[in-house]
Amino acid sequence: MSFHSIQWVDGVVRMLDQRKLPKETIYNDYTTPEQVAEAIRSMVIRGAPAIGAAAAYGLALVPWRDASGDVEAVRAALERADAILRASRPTAVNLFWALDRMKTRLADPGLDSVAKLRDAALAEAHAIAEEDVAINKAIARHALPLIPDKATIIHHCNTGSLATVDYGTALGIIRMAHEEGKEVFALVDETRPRLQGARLTAWELMQYGVPFKIIADSASGHFMRTMGVDLCVVGADRVAANGDTANKIGTYNLAVVARENGVPFYVAAPTTTIDMNTRSGDDIPIEERPPEEVTLVLGQCQIAPDGAPAANPAFDVTPARYITAIITEKGVVYPPFEENLAKLMGESDD
Ligand code: MRU
Repeated sequence: MSFHSIQWVDGVVRMLDQRKLPKETIYNDYTTPEQVAEAIRSMVIRGAPAIGAAAAYGLALVPWRDASGDVEAVRAALERADAILRASRPTAVNLFWALDRMKTRLADPGLDSVAKLRDAALAEAHAIAEEDVAINKAIARHALPLIPDKATIIHHCNTGSLATVDYGTALGIIRMAHEEGKEVFALVDETRPRLQGARLTAWELMQYGVPFKIIADSASGHFMRTMGVDLCVVGADRVAANGDTANKIGTYNLAVVARENGVPFYVAAPTTTIDMNTRSGDDIPIEERPPEEVTLVLGQCQIAPDGAPAANPAFDVTPARYITAIITEKGVVYPPFEENLAKLMGESDD
């Protein structure tokens, strides 16, 4: 089966509704930035790079669907849409990166008609989407030498084609290793509470023919101790300037257990996920989602007493000291991260 997390189709943003997978493959059409923001918030689309692309296309809807022909009115509507999209989810920096990039492009005073704004907005959103695919493949290529010919790999959450525009970051690495003939076996963390691992990563891996088993998040330590795990690879929602990394809740636990068991722990992330303006993990905003996501499995099966309180941070921060390396499209970055990320991002003096 071939699928697209997000597509622009004749002035409409079309997204695969990831809340319904794997049972149903349904595409929804969105025609306003408000709808796109709601789709991001409710996780129709999720995963840092996919959220960035969705925000860019959401903004492009403004000039595209304008009926007034009034360039000043469209510019004001773009400002409002930008604010609404920015408020959809706080942790993945790709959202803000994509909106900043769109804003910079559309600020050009030469774009003095709605038609010009429309063309520029769509071209920029397409560029963001297309670049993402190339970036993911470059990440996977850089990672190949780190993957043994026969490897058992733990993966957390979903970082595949669904979480990006296509191919994926951490899951793209597993996919490419398999495509290159390496004998990879994935242990797929189910990823409570939204089950991105069990629902989405398993769905993708079955299509790519990569052998895997879904495991409870709490089982990873057991498998590392008893089975011989070669490496862990996860994605990121935001990498701070010192290498501290925010990713799906449970990533920190996995990293600590990996260290205890001497298992290398890799973060795969495009440079669009590296936020040099955030000094450390303490400065990364962590999204708190509704408690019902914890007490009701997928909104359907209640597993806690009526009225039981629950906490639901969607992400955690893995301190840089637990990370073996950060794999980007520009190369593999090793500690000391503060220094080497600055070099990678072109912010170092030497
Ligand atoms: O809440 P989600 O499903 O958007 O969280 C996704 C993750 O944490 C991913 O690991 C991260 O965004 C990287 S996706 C390439």
